[in-house]
Amino acid sequence: TSFPTLPLPFPPVPPTLYSHLFIYTSLFPSTAIVLTHSSCRRTSGMSRIHSCSNVLGRLLTRYCLIGPLSYKTAPMEVEQQEPKDPHLASTLESMRNVGVKALYGRWLIEGAPHVLLFDTGSQYSRLDEWKGDLWNLAGIPTPPNDHETNETIVFGYIVAWFLGEYVARQLGTAVVAHFHEWQAGLAIPLLRKRHVDVTTVFTTHATLLGRYLCAGSVDFYNNLQYFDVDHEAGKRGIYHRYCIERSSAHCADVFTTVSHITAYEAEHLLKRKPDGVLPNGLNVVKFQAMHEFQNLHATAKSKINEFVRGHFYGHYDFDLDNTLYFFTAGRYEYRNKGVDMFIEALARLNYRLKRSNSKTTVVAFIIMPAATHSYTIEALKGQAVVKQLRDTVSEIQNRLGTRLFEHAIRSNGDHATLPAPEKFLSEEDKVLLKRRIFALKRNALPPITTHNMADDANDPILNQIRRVQLFNSEADRVKIVFHPDFLNSSNPILGLDYEEFVRGCHLGVFPSYYEPWGYTPAECTVMGIPSITTNLSGFGCFMQDLIERPQDEGCYIVDRRSQSVEDTVNQLTDNMFTFSNKTRRQRINQRNRVERLSPLLDWKNLGIEYSKARQLALRRAYPDSFYGVSGLEGEDEEFDFGMERMMPNSVPASPRFRMSGIATPGDIGTLTEEMQALGTSDYRGQAWGLTEEDEEEGY
Ligand code: UDP
Ligand code: G6P
Repeated sequence: TSFPTLPLPFPPVPPTLYSHLFIYTSLFPSTAIVLTHSSCRRTSGMSRIHSCSNVLGRLLTRYCLIGPLSYKTAPMEVEQQEPKDPHLASTLESMRNVGVKALYGRWLIEGAPHVLLFDTGSQYSRLDEWKGDLWNLAGIPTPPNDHETNETIVFGYIVAWFLGEYVARQLGTAVVAHFHEWQAGLAIPLLRKRHVDVTTVFTTHATLLGRYLCAGSVDFYNNLQYFDVDHEAGKRGIYHRYCIERSSAHCADVFTTVSHITAYEAEHLLKRKPDGVLPNGLNVVKFQAMHEFQNLHATAKSKINEFVRGHFYGHYDFDLDNTLYFFTAGRYEYRNKGVDMFIEALARLNYRLKRSNSKTTVVAFIIMPAATHSYTIEALKGQAVVKQLRDTVSEIQNRLGTRLFEHAIRSNGDHATLPAPEKFLSEEDKVLLKRRIFALKRNALPPITTHNMADDANDPILNQIRRVQLFNSEADRVKIVFHPDFLNSSNPILGLDYEEFVRGCHLGVFPSYYEPWGYTPAECTVMGIPSITTNLSGFGCFMQDLIERPQDEGCYIVDRRSQSVEDTVNQLTDNMFTFSNKTRRQRINQRNRVERLSPLLDWKNLGIEYSKARQLALRRAYPDSFYGVSGLEGEDEEFDFGMERMMPNSVPASPRFRMSGIATPGDIGTLTEEMQALGTSDYRGQAWGLTEEDEEEGY
């Protein structure tokens, strides 16, 4: 069961190509083809990747995204067009003639990039033939009933076919094909084996095996070097998928991941040291003035307040002006996302707030989709009684206003006739109001969940809440709301979009164990909301590398690497407790500081890493084109990798940035080389796994 080794010759470049290849002229005359097949994500990975290339606007005309065609969504999302590139047109024509169905056009999102979508269904008849070929070519076995793998194979073969035909026709410019995740990567070994004249980049956003191993209860990071990868993959029934991922990583000209922590993981699980790191960015929208995003916080918070009044009706005895909203959100991966730790730390926070007689209430939200059967009656009722009360009050208010006005206007200047205000409240009004107030009576405590859970008794989050006994009782200073679904402004309960919800909260808490990147804390940062993350998340490590004292900037990073679980939970509790004791002014200041970090996460800066990867891919495939007759490297105006680009324009005295913080220092590819020279496998110079002493002691 050892992994099949593939011959890896660099593609021979026909001499004719050199005369057409002007990599270093003013614009970058290569076609950047980005492939992705991450249909599994709710927030489309493809669109995230596109955001990156989009900000490098100059590329867009030569940039095309390739993906699978979904007849359900494509008609609404893609405007069909005829390709302007005659080579592309004739390639598609020739593929269509033998039955490949494809849609080419503009994707109707920001920047309207070109997309080429292939209908995998149109080629399923070849599945067995291609599976046989894959086995002969790379020794990768494929079981019959794994739909995702079947899709991957058909998609991979179509893409390799397309690229092969395209570059056979288009001899003028180099083609860089950038593949994301194993589901898109299968074309890479095929291209290499067929010596197709493209250069390839493969980016893993996590590793398959890493995800599976972490979902269990293994001590992942301390054993990374020692896993028998084939055996572990086989045990979990994913050997074939693992082989596809591993061959994509090995056959690509350039192999990258999204963070240093995943680079380390990939090195051990995929057995190739990544050439560099391409961190995930965001499209940062800058406001004209600082107070604008602060105002957004206040508006969004008032909507959350509205939900809280309804959810806690009958037990709403805390002061919303002195209430903080904490939250965690993402895929329901109980251990990987650190929800276990979050709940434990909330229980300890509750204890500490009570002990210190704090007047602050913390409402902690957990936003993670689980199997449910709609909303609970209680949750709906809570919102309904509050709405009824509000409606009744405003009716009474209107009537009372009319009476008051009539009385005042008839007083003819004699203010002594003004009766006591309650006189304006009619008996009917009082009865109506009493009815509404009685409706607020409730025997049970406010519920933890907003939905009927499909498996309430075995749900890990609920069980952990039961264990720590955080039941929303009056004495508790920490209340919990578990919303087992993603947010949406059209929901009848907590009707906000996720972004608005985040803006309205005070603190995001993401104590992840396995988190190759972690968009949630990054999104908090660009929205100016402080967050807590860990040094096992790609984002956490990235910020720690860049900023000298991240906690001062509202970017708290708890240590899950070198401390015991007990110490980590205490550190997390300390951070939350300190935050809970901040004054409003301190919170406002901290939001301002966090927001100032957003340029660090902007694609405008991080997209440069993508350019570096493409450049390295070209350099590796066509080394001669990078050194002229003189042997000197040409000037490259697209690639300016200076650190200044990472800094906000008006960088204040604080935060203090570390100079070593760029994702891949200098030229991409040097990461591998530098590490080889130093004889270390440390990413970012941080110690991993066993120390030398441990090893000597035979652990
Ligand atoms: N998210 C969302 N709606 C929600 C909660 C979360 O769209 O109600 C998104 C959030 O914006 C983030 C993603 O879910 O982009 C989670 O990404 P992250 O990288 O944190 O975790 P992953 O899903 O990659 O493990
Ligand atoms: C923003 C608003 C302020 C508001 C504050 C509340 O800064 O601009 O008007 O007072 O939010 O902050 P808090 O942290 O208490 O929600």
